[in-house]
Amino acid sequence: MRAMKWTAVAATGLLAAASSGAFAQTAPIPDDQVKARVEALLAQMTLEEKVGQLTQVAGGLFPEAKPEEALRKGGAGSILWLNDTKKFNELQKVAVEEPRLKIPVLYGLDVIHGYRTIFPVPLAMAASWDPSVHERAAAVAAKEARAAGIHWTFAPMVDIARDARWGRIVEGAGEDPYLGAAMAAAQVRGFQGPYLGAPDHVLACAKHFGAYGAADGGRDYDPVYVPEGRLRNVYFPPFQAAVNAGVGSFMSAYMDLNDVPAGGNRWLLTDVLRGEWGFKGFVVSDAMGVGNLEILHFARDGRDAAWKALSAGLDMEMASGRFPQHLAALVKDGQLAAAQLDEAVRRVLAVKVRLGLFEKPYTDEARVESVLTDPAHRKEARLAAQRSMVLLRNEGKALPLPKTLTSLAVIGPLADSKADTEGSWMVFGHVPAAVTVLEGLKAKLPGAKIDYAPGPEIRRDVPSFFETLIPGPKKPPQTPAEAEAAFQKAVETARGADLVIAVMGERADMSGEAASRALLDLPGRQEELLKAVVALGKPVVLVLLNGRPLSINWASQNVPAILEAWEPGTEGGHAVADVLFGDVNPGGKLPVTFPRSGAHSPLSSARNLTHSPEGAPMYNVRYWDGAPTPLYPFGYGLSYTTFAFSNLKVAALQVQVGGKVAVSVDVTNTGAVAGDEVVQLYVHQKAGRDSRPMRELKGFRRVGLKPGEKQTVTFALGPDELRYWSTSQRRWVQDAEAFDVWVGADSTATLHADLTVVP
Ligand code: BGC
Repeated sequence: MRAMKWTAVAATGLLAAASSGAFAQTAPIPDDQVKARVEALLAQMTLEEKVGQLTQVAGGLFPEAKPEEALRKGGAGSILWLNDTKKFNELQKVAVEEPRLKIPVLYGLDVIHGYRTIFPVPLAMAASWDPSVHERAAAVAAKEARAAGIHWTFAPMVDIARDARWGRIVEGAGEDPYLGAAMAAAQVRGFQGPYLGAPDHVLACAKHFGAYGAADGGRDYDPVYVPEGRLRNVYFPPFQAAVNAGVGSFMSAYMDLNDVPAGGNRWLLTDVLRGEWGFKGFVVSDAMGVGNLEILHFARDGRDAAWKALSAGLDMEMASGRFPQHLAALVKDGQLAAAQLDEAVRRVLAVKVRLGLFEKPYTDEARVESVLTDPAHRKEARLAAQRSMVLLRNEGKALPLPKTLTSLAVIGPLADSKADTEGSWMVFGHVPAAVTVLEGLKAKLPGAKIDYAPGPEIRRDVPSFFETLIPGPKKPPQTPAEAEAAFQKAVETARGADLVIAVMGERADMSGEAASRALLDLPGRQEELLKAVVALGKPVVLVLLNGRPLSINWASQNVPAILEAWEPGTEGGHAVADVLFGDVNPGGKLPVTFPRSGAHSPLSSARNLTHSPEGAPMYNVRYWDGAPTPLYPFGYGLSYTTFAFSNLKVAALQVQVGGKVAVSVDVTNTGAVAGDEVVQLYVHQKAGRDSRPMRELKGFRRVGLKPGEKQTVTFALGPDELRYWSTSQRRWVQDAEAFDVWVGADSTATLHADLTVVP
């Protein structure tokens, strides 16, 4: 009925009025109304129409894709890989006018760290240790995407990643389940707003369920073998946090999880996700993920794949066409219960109803540009980039730099690259428009002489699969002679300046999907160039642009100032300049351990003790060819000021199982400038039914302090923080045992207190 009404509005040319926001939902649609509307629709649907709703088809990415045909035939639940507002409206018109039931189509796209305004990559956002900034970034991304006609983002990616070789580490919050859960929930709130269907927001999707980040050897898509205890204690918490924050959809992962592919894993998608966590939304496969069950030799053919996926609890298939080909026949043949198919359809329809798509299927094309160019969005992006930066080294107070500098050289292949400044995972069709570091420096010092030389280019040895999807001719690689000339030019440029800023790291296509690598050093001839420039005896600052930890061993000893700027987004260059020249005091902290070598991966601070624990005489037996310790530990980051921690108090020496105890600490800014410190709380359980990690993050707070200012920060430790899933008991337990408690500035904090949990 309602759909028909809006069809009539559209037909009479009142499209803009219908979509101007005047009809946006100002409150969630009550559950009973959602249910009634879904049941009324379901009762009218044929088997083919039901299957249509469980099918997501490709839009613009593949020229051969014909989404309108799918819409006319049986309908399509969703369209992805299309980013064209006009086309969205045209196809929507087909969906709500031509097929019998007029069910609007749901447009999904990867809006990972911004739509037009690009925020720092998610790993960088996690380095802010500020969930509120991540929430606001997601809200801006949602507002822009929704204005352009997108209803659903395939984000947040909440995979824990402890292996820096894995390319997709850039898309998540790093290694830690506690920080990861906070960032997951923040992004869900930001994308979805206060309720599903809130104006200017989109449906979020927690992905890739689960444990995709534990790929063997850090190789993308490789199988994952993770025992249940570690799944539940480490890999699942961010997913559960997303459910608790009300996420409306989940995406299953590609790979085998303990020999059962995630996309066909009933334990994962039904028993845990719905049974234990009470997830009420729908699950979509990853791209081609149902067909993938055949590639993994889990399903014998397409029919088997469709059956295994749907019966495991997967509701919508992304782009591999097995559902439309086989689901109806599976029901007709009695292999798949009609009730099970209906359940999946209900979940998809319920989300569409909640999003208000039936009332407002179209997008107001006239409004798009004004939303996308809102200057407030760029302000947020600059703030987010400033807050995400991590100062790794600052010998002799090399930073901040004086604004009186008159001559500087900027070198490095990333210094003036818009695409690499915006980083991995651009929205399909987006044209990079970032302020580069070079541009940011020029804007900061308009009177100075700033010479730029990129040095030799850097490239992947094996080109990215995604490059093949971008039309147009590819730039041929530099010849060795061209690279040598570029190298010499960079050295000469450096020689002519008073100070050198080297902007180095990884190109955007060196991290992300299908972008794993074995080594973590600076690719190409960057380190060689850095050495040549340091050898000139000039002050050198290294600004890193990268989407994963890098093993910058030489630089960490020889370059006095190192700023980890990640892939900082649209306003990245300004934010780097703000930090380098002291307008902003960096306060970010590493959300992931930096290993000394790719060969040391995976490495995290929350590892269990060993026969030769850290600091023990036999410690170095763990590798004879180098220290096994991190280059930079989890939680690490410096500031232009200094902080002192004191007065650590655990409110009671003993707490009962199930009870809560307050832990407080004073943090004081002991330096001369205002700055932020991230106060971090770690615990270690000293004995128990299982061995527990030597450090686990169980609280954090980023606080801003003026010089001399002191603040008391209080955390609570209770069952949520002290319980764990026990491998020996095969259930959640809280042990009555002794705990170490540390509070400080990173995961090596030494300020210690004892806590005993009693029965
Ligand atoms: C990725 C997902 C993404 C999907 C749709 C897949 O290859 O693994 O993260 O959401 O494509 O673009």
